[in-house]
Amino acid sequence: MAKDTLTITDNRSGKQYEIAIENGAIRTADLQQIKTSAEDPGLVGYDPSFGNTASCKSRITFIDGDKGILRYRGYDIAELAERSTYLETAYLIVKGELPDAHHLSMWQHNITIHTMVHENIKKLMEGFRYDAHPMGILVGTIGALSTFYPDAKDIDNAEARRLQTRRLIGKVPTLAAFAYRHTRGLPYVYPDNEMSYTGNFLQMMFRMTERHYRPNPVLEHALDVLFILHADHEQNCSTNAVRSVGSSHVDPYSAVAAGVAALYGPLHGGANEAVIRMLQEIGSVEKVPEAIKRFKAGDGRLMGFGHRVYKNYDPRGKIIKQLAYEVFEVTGKNPLIDIALELERIALEDDYFVKRRLYPNVDFYSGIIYQAMGFPVAMFPVLFAIPRTAGWLAQWAEMVRDPEQRISRPRQLYVGEPTRHYEAIEARPEPLTREDAVDATI
Ligand code: CMC
Repeated sequence: MAKDTLTITDNRSGKQYEIAIENGAIRTADLQQIKTSAEDPGLVGYDPSFGNTASCKSRITFIDGDKGILRYRGYDIAELAERSTYLETAYLIVKGELPDAHHLSMWQHNITIHTMVHENIKKLMEGFRYDAHPMGILVGTIGALSTFYPDAKDIDNAEARRLQTRRLIGKVPTLAAFAYRHTRGLPYVYPDNEMSYTGNFLQMMFRMTERHYRPNPVLEHALDVLFILHADHEQNCSTNAVRSVGSSHVDPYSAVAAGVAALYGPLHGGANEAVIRMLQEIGSVEKVPEAIKRFKAGDGRLMGFGHRVYKNYDPRGKIIKQLAYEVFEVTGKNPLIDIALELERIALEDDYFVKRRLYPNVDFYSGIIYQAMGFPVAMFPVLFAIPRTAGWLAQWAEMVRDPEQRISRPRQLYVGEPTRHYEAIEARPEPLTREDAVDATI
């Protein structure tokens, strides 16, 4: 049987090595045998930011960035967005198969009974400043949940893992809505377990004095679709954070809090907020050509365009664009959509964007919808974190159960000073100025 191998000739020693290729990859650990002497620790792979390094084998999400394909557990994202619900998709992502009617109903029940949070969490939340960013509150309160559920430390116990998964998926919308109400000085609204997952979230966010809050079904459905689109996205920055932190065998609340922290950054979950700011700055359709000129000259970027993986239209972007019109039927048109459409039209015909294969990504239209639905900009990354919780937990459980996974511990290439000896303070060379010292080390 022909074996897939890579032959490497080490020009330093003239030796040849056969490295096995499996699933289109070599194991970088196999490079360690390539050495020039017995003392040589062996060759390592250098890949800052993991641009071309697979950190795990996964069965959850498939992306083909060239073709613009995204699938959860083999199901195309467009099919799930059209036919599934968020909770059913979360089941698929976490458990690997679509549920039958009985299991779906049990899953919905099992998530719903965990929507309440301990009253002390409310007190904790009250300790945040009035202007605290809801993502900061979410990082803190999800991390704090680990202290309420010490059983979560039992990560090798499948039943304990399942319980924490249900608790987290159930509680994250409650924490998110409480964080928003806190910043508005509004009383917290408790979960209503008669409502759908997204319907309940909307009522915890927006209910005022009405006895029965009933969300508009179009908006409830749109949010559900947006949640499906954000449920997982393989080894992105926040998922990698969850896996890496979880690899120390800490409880899943702490690992997911790390994921939320990673998502908080403007290069990840914060991009849709940047799109809104950019559209507001451009201000009108007439000013679009001028803005495009600026982006091409390197003065700022066309936010919501381009992706590390997708070199084609982000399949989520396509669905969101369509969804925007359904939402506007209810909310009225968000005028920013006209500027976005013109940007897209010009960019997709422009050589600069075509050559670099820059297409609208998931964030280009999502913020416009969220804004039309009444969510403040600071809540945009929170709306990403809620559905991504299912993906993070599925990835975490896959990591915990994978016998090949050990504690994450990347290598480094040390390029600092060689051995030095401690000198008495008076004998040291001219000290650096404070600014130099700071520049040199931070
Ligand atoms: N506007 C203008 N030029 C761009 C843009 C853009 N949005 N994105 C990339 N380029 C240019 C870039 O200047 C470079 O040109 P050159 O080759 O002449 O130097 C080339 O395209 C390749 O860019 P890159 O920065 O090497 O690409 P990357 O894969 O490292 O970056 C990205 C991907 C998403 C960070 C980047 O496209 C970007 O900054 N986009 C805007 C921010 C954004 O929308 N982020 C949301 C990402 S999707 C959400 C998520 O999954 O978390």
